[in-house]
Amino acid sequence: MIRSLLHIGMTVPDLEIGRAFYETFGLEMRASGNDYVFRCPGRDQDQIRLMQGSKKKLSYTALGTNEAGMEQLLRKLREANVSLQPPPFDVPFGGIWFQDPHGDWLNVQVAEPAPAGGSVLPPEINAHGRYRRIGKRACDISTRAKKARPLRLGHLIKFSPDVPASTAFYTDVLGMLVSDKSLDILAFLRGAAGGDHHMVAFAKSTHTGLHHLSFEVADLDEIEIGAQTMIRAGYQDSFGLGRHVGGSNYFHYLRDPWGSLIEYFWDIDVIPEGADWEPIDAAPHEVMFVWATTPPPDDFVLNFEARD
Ligand SMILES: [Fe+2]
Repeated sequence: MIRSLLHIGMTVPDLEIGRAFYETFGLEMRASGNDYVFRCPGRDQDQIRLMQGSKKKLSYTALGTNEAGMEQLLRKLREANVSLQPPPFDVPFGGIWFQDPHGDWLNVQVAEPAPAGGSVLPPEINAHGRYRRIGKRACDISTRAKKARPLRLGHLIKFSPDVPASTAFYTDVLGMLVSDKSLDILAFLRGAAGGDHHMVAFAKSTHTGLHHLSFEVADLDEIEIGAQTMIRAGYQDSFGLGRHVGGSNYFHYLRDPWGSLIEYFWDIDVIPEGADWEPIDAAPHEVMFVWATTPPPDDFVLNFEARD
């Protein structure tokens, strides 16, 4: 049923602090009523809606499906006694609204995600035995001036006080599929029609909140050019460069101004619809990374979002 991640909504105490952070990260801002909406350059798709509020909170997640998926979802929601609600936020888009088992708002729309903007051709790589870049430089002096250009919001990890219960709801009712997990601590879920290894994941905590948002970039250079730009601008480094096991993607995480994380990623596993995919179920550190330039900081798994 759920086929895509469209965007997320977040309440923050200071929209201008958010604007500076996400613009430095590489997103573009436009005003929408009283809110600030951020998109990837050249892509006709909202990715983050920042709304003014007294404290920072992941307010909702907007997901996409098709007509048949919406019919099936409405039936599943009825069977699970989940009632549809009027829009809880003053937002200019449609779709249905309901809450997950821990009270987090979900919006589902019949919508296809927009294609990424600009050229997204992968870099040519000279891997031994498959040299593809012949007679061409990978880097020249202009490479130093390159900027991270986020292509799309790929996934988010939400904190959950009960990861198995969250997983059961998102699989049984929303039709998502488990790609990998770690005991009752972590679960990575992909869409019903396949795609990225994970679109939504859950990490155990005392209460709900946002662990991180993750944006795809074009290559490994952009992960580090982006991360180093953020650090030079005074934002807090967190974890990376490294490579995950769950998803296999290269990563670098930075702290956002409110204590959640934002990730640049490249080279994630893609799982086709109907694949015979065997999930890993191992200790968190085994699922988390193959290697990283530094160990994860102690606060990497902490939930800084206040309880309601
Ligand atoms: Fe991630």
